[in-house]
Amino acid sequence: MIKRKEQIIRLDTLNTTLVIKADTAEYLYYGKRLANGFDFGAYAGGGKKLFSAPGKDDYTEYSVLLENSDGGFAADFSFSKLRILPEKPEIPGLPSSYGEGKTLELKYTDTTRVALFLYYTVFDDSDVIAVSARLFNGAKKDIHIRRLMSLQMDLPGADYSVVTFEGAWANERNKVSREVGSGIFVSDSKRGMSSHARNPFIMAEDRRGVYAFNLVYSGNHKETVEADCSGKTRVLTGINDFMFDWLLPVGETFCTPEAVMCFAPDEDTISNRFHYFVSEHIVRGKWKKKERPVLVNNWEGTYFDFNEEKLLAIAEAAKRTGVELFVLDDGWFGRRDSDTCSLGDWYDNLEKTGGGLASLADKIRALGLSFGIWVEPEMISEDSDLYRAHPNFAMKIPGRTPTRLRHQLMLNMTDERVQNYVVRVISDVISRSGAEYVKWDFNRSMTDCYGKGIFPGEYFHRYMLGYYRVVSKIVKKFPFVLFEGCAGGGGRFDLGNMCYFSQYWTSDDTDARMRIAIQAGSSYGYPQTVMGAHVSACPNHQTANTNSLEARFNVACGGLLGYELDMTKFTPEEIQEVSEQIAFYKENRKLLQFGDQYRIDEKYVKGFITVSKDKSMAIAVLNQTVAFPSMPLVTVRLKGLSETSVYDVTRRDGKGGFTAGGDLLMNGDLPLCDLFDYDTVSKNSGGLCSRMYILKKRKN
Ligand code: DGJ
Repeated sequence: MIKRKEQIIRLDTLNTTLVIKADTAEYLYYGKRLANGFDFGAYAGGGKKLFSAPGKDDYTEYSVLLENSDGGFAADFSFSKLRILPEKPEIPGLPSSYGEGKTLELKYTDTTRVALFLYYTVFDDSDVIAVSARLFNGAKKDIHIRRLMSLQMDLPGADYSVVTFEGAWANERNKVSREVGSGIFVSDSKRGMSSHARNPFIMAEDRRGVYAFNLVYSGNHKETVEADCSGKTRVLTGINDFMFDWLLPVGETFCTPEAVMCFAPDEDTISNRFHYFVSEHIVRGKWKKKERPVLVNNWEGTYFDFNEEKLLAIAEAAKRTGVELFVLDDGWFGRRDSDTCSLGDWYDNLEKTGGGLASLADKIRALGLSFGIWVEPEMISEDSDLYRAHPNFAMKIPGRTPTRLRHQLMLNMTDERVQNYVVRVISDVISRSGAEYVKWDFNRSMTDCYGKGIFPGEYFHRYMLGYYRVVSKIVKKFPFVLFEGCAGGGGRFDLGNMCYFSQYWTSDDTDARMRIAIQAGSSYGYPQTVMGAHVSACPNHQTANTNSLEARFNVACGGLLGYELDMTKFTPEEIQEVSEQIAFYKENRKLLQFGDQYRIDEKYVKGFITVSKDKSMAIAVLNQTVAFPSMPLVTVRLKGLSETSVYDVTRRDGKGGFTAGGDLLMNGDLPLCDLFDYDTVSKNSGGLCSRMYILKKRKN
């Protein structure tokens, strides 16, 4: 809801209030929802600004930096007008959130007649506010945008801890918390992707609560948090200004990606609010609310070494256990027997697929499984027919040896001919195989940015515009297909991509131990509905750890369950166990995929509990990650249950049942020693004790 009284605008979400003073471009308040109207008189003049630019006696990191038409960097934006729009405007060329709600549009004009527009959308059903900026060049000369952040939030106080989600390939989104102190904290990506290293989701926390920010963008991003000398803290988020220099001709507009923000009293509530927002206002299309199939993916089962016979054998074994979708990963096209060649040659390798994709897909379907296919559309191998025919499609700087990563180059997606080519060939792969699922991979960072006629400072963002054009065209063409995004695991695990891909491969690390932290880190800003999570073989291929099949399944139930191993190698006992797992999963899939998930984050116990919307049922996975002699009593508190209900608690294997009130389960430090049955669990698990519990509300 947006209400206005003169120059004061009050934006209310379900549980928060944001108050803006339009004429002075200030935030008067952002936090817990206020009960009372418009009495903000004493708060005016706090100096918490909506935007900042050089030239106005403000020396904190700026949200706007222009090489202005008068030759200087200074800008003096003064208030011109505001509108309350009944609908949320789309951002041309960029993905953004959607849904019912009003938008505040504010316009500020510089003396040169460059206009800055700010947009704040509040949805009727969510606590997340969407913010973006636009710059219109109404001056008499072209200008250069050196920086235009999507959001500036000046927070009261200078004692924030900033929480980021960091890592590397196969070790993404580990939670890191640090005090900002008196310096400037920067988290960013310069890789042309949102990156494994630093996710755009960040939080700023102090005694007031938690402010969280994310960006609906998949390219270079930057978040800065700076405590200034007047006791305020400025948070900026947007496109990274690293190598960014956008020429804005007279009469044209530049639109930033959308930033989203939320306030909540604690981290669990922030996650809850973001989970809802992502599920309702980011993910879209047919799969938004549809239960996702249990899949088997052949990557870790075969890597490049497969033929039709092997694939069908895996599919048959998978079908026997209850798997619903077979995904053919990398290696089915061109002469692709290793990662050194063939990217771009999206025609069937007949030796490996039998009679080609169409006939293989038919055979898979005849077994009773859906068919899914892997592609990596933005890449090109130098050893490919595509490269031999169109070397100029590759992203490289004339006269320089390009950097090869995983032996491959990228396509120059700033070029419309390349974009159209990709749309055509990838659409053809999907059409001819009739794929019901597509995994869209992206396996390298961007290095040799160059496109004929493209101004270098514009390249990274123009690439993203090209990428979004291609992916949106393909996704629109195949509305019934389930698209899963992937970037060497979770390298582009961001809200921009989630506008197109209903789910995302969380990480190339499939080790249950590592996944506990990776999935927990991811869950701060993203719901389990978007997180691919697979059971793979042991010893694990990334870490050599061995965990029980039960532990691997339990952890994968924190996301969207799949299996990624050669199922023909299962013993009869394992087939039985996996069949039971999948049967259980299907029975409880709605709850596991769409229930409210909370992290369990005790000293020795990590995991999650997923609670049905009506709180009548919950599934908890508790993983004891360390064990040593004379351990203190290991206890756990559950979350999200009804305080006033009584629950029957049983272990998935039927052992160890008991009954307790929701309030006791959430506050009573439940001792795990008897429940866990360590002897059995550690025999199979090499130390990771993992148990799944089912909680059912007692009927009175
Ligand atoms: C990286 C992905 O994350 C893996 O799952 C797999 O698809 C490989 N690429 C294939 O090259």
